[in-house]
Amino acid sequence: MTHRRWITAAAVAVATVAALNTVPATASRPYDPTAQSLGALGLRHKLHVGTAVDMAALNDANDPEYRRLAASEFSSVTAENAMKWESLEPTRGTYDWAAADQLVEFAKRNRQSVRGHVLVWHNQLPAWLTAGVADGSISKQELRELLRRHITTVVNRYKGKIWQWDVVNEAVSDPWDTPSTLHYKGFWAQNLGPDYIADAFRWARAADPRALLFYNDYNIEAFGSGNPADDKSQFVHDMVKGLLAQGVPIDGIGSQGHLGTQYGNYDTLQVTAALKRFAALGVATAFTEVDVRSELTEPGDSAEINPRLQASAANFSVLMKACLAVRSCLSYTVWGFSDRHSWVPEWFDDPPQGMATIYDENYQPKRAYHELKSDLIFAGPPYVLPRVAPRPRG
Ligand code: G3I
Repeated sequence: MTHRRWITAAAVAVATVAALNTVPATASRPYDPTAQSLGALGLRHKLHVGTAVDMAALNDANDPEYRRLAASEFSSVTAENAMKWESLEPTRGTYDWAAADQLVEFAKRNRQSVRGHVLVWHNQLPAWLTAGVADGSISKQELRELLRRHITTVVNRYKGKIWQWDVVNEAVSDPWDTPSTLHYKGFWAQNLGPDYIADAFRWARAADPRALLFYNDYNIEAFGSGNPADDKSQFVHDMVKGLLAQGVPIDGIGSQGHLGTQYGNYDTLQVTAALKRFAALGVATAFTEVDVRSELTEPGDSAEINPRLQASAANFSVLMKACLAVRSCLSYTVWGFSDRHSWVPEWFDDPPQGMATIYDENYQPKRAYHELKSDLIFAGPPYVLPRVAPRPRG
């Protein structure tokens, strides 16, 4: 490249960085990106960095730091539990919107986007629904109508306020399930067959023309054998491809990103390749529930804790770098941001697991927080370009 062109390219690069920096630098106060929040740094790339929100913690007057960080550090929030069917309609026909409304209001006040989680899942269903199906008092036909009504009621209520909906969650089995050949699993597939998936997306679209409608699942961070019978990423890819071919309005694939330092996990190029294969379908992608747990063995001294902190940070960073590398990756959401409020210890107790989030139980940022921040600071043109969101499918 000629000398003149180098100068021009450098000038463009400097101008781009300056334009993307959200805090105007001055001679006396040069721009310090490390002082920026993860949310602000992400928005430089039009990437929403978000967190799942535990509403009990948010409302705990004795835990103000939770609310402060939830409000200031992220540009997107997800209801960890408040928008699940058991929370919204604990008694048939009687809705409890309070917690979900509060989160939507919180997000509005803090100029955050909202990921709606989750319209259709086989977990956290209200007891009246599962019991009615089990005792036969709710027929298959009535169950399908109840699902349509649930989706329509919830999406209508938050129409225009939800950026991305997790419409269907975890519909696909794992290779260790029975049968081991990958298949459609869970309450909805067992009772309505896999067609419920297309129905759910169509009903959600009918209720909100603009929300981006996602399929969400775990263990799809990278592709394996490529055989849909045992490669969950391939199965999900082919499922979404088939639904799109039928005109089903799916706008995105959410990759949950629940990892563990005890596993092999993936490198950045593997994860980038997976996001690109999903993107090639014409859909957006997102990391929707990122956390990286560790097995905790007593006593947890520094010789044990430091390797876990480093391995955890590396895994958070792999997913962030892959997301930054693919313009259709719209958001990166951690599944809770503090070890004080994480689902992991409650769910993994033999052996105990924890240390899964980016702040410790005293809200001190961990290595993972700083690695995410450095990824966001050092990412930029020409290798990382602003996100490009799809138009919602009709
Ligand atoms: O609200 C009740 C409370 O009234 C009761 O006293 C208490 C007794 O244990 O239970 C409370 O409900 C708990 C609920 O979280 C709200 O805190 C449930 O027991 C507990 O099982 C439930 O766990 C949630 C889990 O999904 C359920 O599968 C976790 O908080 C939540 O982080 C987790 O999130 C899921 C995503 O939605 C989907 N992807 C996987 C991810 C991890 O499982």
